[in-house]
Amino acid sequence: MDQPLWIPEEHYREAAAAVKQRLTQSPTVGLILGSGLGTLVEEIKDPLVIPYTEIPHWPPPTVSGHVGRLVVGELEGRPVVAMQGRIHFYEGYTMAQVTLPVRVMRLLGINTLIVTNAAGGLNPGFAAGDIMVIEDHIFLPGYAGFSPLYGPNIGSFGPRFTINTHCYSSELRKLAHKVAAASGVTLREGVYVSLAGPAFETPAEVRMLRAAGGDSVGMSTAPEVLVANHMGMRVLGFSTITNVSLDNTESVDEVSHEDVLRLGRQIVPRLAALIRGVLRELPAYDPAQSENQPEL
Ligand code: HPA
Repeated sequence: MDQPLWIPEEHYREAAAAVKQRLTQSPTVGLILGSGLGTLVEEIKDPLVIPYTEIPHWPPPTVSGHVGRLVVGELEGRPVVAMQGRIHFYEGYTMAQVTLPVRVMRLLGINTLIVTNAAGGLNPGFAAGDIMVIEDHIFLPGYAGFSPLYGPNIGSFGPRFTINTHCYSSELRKLAHKVAAASGVTLREGVYVSLAGPAFETPAEVRMLRAAGGDSVGMSTAPEVLVANHMGMRVLGFSTITNVSLDNTESVDEVSHEDVLRLGRQIVPRLAALIRGVLRELPAYDPAQSENQPEL
């Protein structure tokens, strides 16, 4: 299989042009929904659906029959683009492929990205079913050379050496807490650890990640957020705690993908309330808030 470690600028632009010619409005908010969380897409009004297979250079879905499409429309009066079907590194894609959708979204004019994921709870104070707004992340594959920014830098997208001090907008985090309080949803906050997957963590790894400062752990999100930050996007991220991470080899509990999906469905109504509330009150995007600004 031909899997590019980096993707030339014209491929992003060709993909964006193919989507743009079908749009009837200019979306400003991108939504990426994690495992079991995709049903929020069904709440988008007047949806225009674009299958991934109709967008040039878009990573092809690996599982036949799996939902893989962009849904464009309105949520709380905001023009949004949602990915129904996320792309994960563990499926066999490169980090460049995993993050192509975010760069395409930015080229379409999207300046705000809302990402969600299913995650294990490392923080002993978290329970299955909790929602955590992401304050910051630890991206372990990046330390092994699997950065989505690996390869020639596309200068018009962002700088070679990105500043990552403010990957997750503090303004949007505060707004999320305000919305949560108003709607009676308990909202945690913490650091998300992003691993490559697909295996779940061993108990020794859970203890290590907790000692490193992680509160939740999953197999996505940080690559997309690094690319979004490179292109000056404002990011809001949520981890849904679908299971508690097991830190003891004597444990008789088990984590299964089915449990992850089941808990996800249980969390969706609260997560949807948070995202809808944030969209309702979304402040105007101010490019000056980002250290990195592309020349699109
Ligand atoms: N670990 C990694 N990814 C996950 C988990 C987990 O415990 N739960 C849901 N996604």
